[in-house]
Amino acid sequence: MSSVLQSVSRRLAGKVALITGGASGIGAATARLFAQNGAKVVIADVQSSLGDSVAKEASSNSQHPVSFVRCDVTKESDVESAVDAVVSAHGKLDIMYSNAGVTGDSSGHRILTVDAEELRRVLEINVVGGFLCAKHAARVMIPKKKGTILFTPSVVTDTFGLFAHTYTASKHAQEGLVKNLCVELGQYGIRVNAVSPADVPTPMAMKALGLDRKGVQEFYAQKSALKGLLLDENDIAEAALYLASDESQFVSGLNLIVDGGYNLRSA
Ligand SMILES: NC(=O)c1ccc[n+]([C@@H]2O[C@H](COP(=O)([O-])OP(=O)(O)OC[C@H]3O[C@@H](n4cnc5c(N)ncnc54)[C@H](O)[C@@H]3O)[C@@H](O)[C@H]2O)c1
Repeated sequence: MSSVLQSVSRRLAGKVALITGGASGIGAATARLFAQNGAKVVIADVQSSLGDSVAKEASSNSQHPVSFVRCDVTKESDVESAVDAVVSAHGKLDIMYSNAGVTGDSSGHRILTVDAEELRRVLEINVVGGFLCAKHAARVMIPKKKGTILFTPSVVTDTFGLFAHTYTASKHAQEGLVKNLCVELGQYGIRVNAVSPADVPTPMAMKALGLDRKGVQEFYAQKSALKGLLLDENDIAEAALYLASDESQFVSGLNLIVDGGYNLRSA
């Protein structure tokens, strides 16, 4: 490998990353890309066998083994233990990618049919989970006076009426958390950012839209302002890589929308 290629493929050399929701979709693609870029990666998820197999497969293309820890982000003790396990294995945590999330069920599209329990369930995972990840990441990052915290809200932070009220409320809450945390944690050299995707062909989107992988991509290709290519989870992983790397060292509080300009269309 040439020295140019080596430096291109090691944008996270020396960094340690914890990725929640890393067993599937965007999280799994990001785990692979971060590992290929020299990071020591730990995947945290509730899907243990899938998380284990993604970790094994990602390790085969990586300088450092990728590992898996079972963690339900709604349980503070799980999040605390996952962060502590990363620090005890690798000495520090540089990147917390709080990515685990759910869309909720289709009742969330109609205010008269959705019940408050469904809202509570979605907020518990997407908002309380993200809050706990940020809290325990900050706990170990503040003493080191550096670190990066990332979230995956959604293009629903900038578009309305297309997704469930429950999901939209949770993703706006995540964006608010990103911006508020950015202001508080900046004094400790910690950056907080978000990547907001449109319809990415992951198990979550396939289920929500009732389409297969190709169907989700073709459905979104019709809506995207940018034509000529299909959105996939690697596009989101690349945006996360930029925000996790030192190339974005002065970027904080950003909600980076990866939607090919969809949110700006008026027709
Ligand atoms: N796919 C899209 O179109 C899209 C668009 C915008 C935003 N997002 C966001 O991206 C993130 C990743 O979604 P994805 O599309 O890769 O979906 P996915 O379903 O493929 O992956 C989500 C992962 O989160 C895990 N998870 C769920 N609840 C958890 C919990 N309590 N604790 C730990 N892990 C948990 C799941 O087991 C799964 O592995 C989500 O936050 C989602 O809202 C996705």
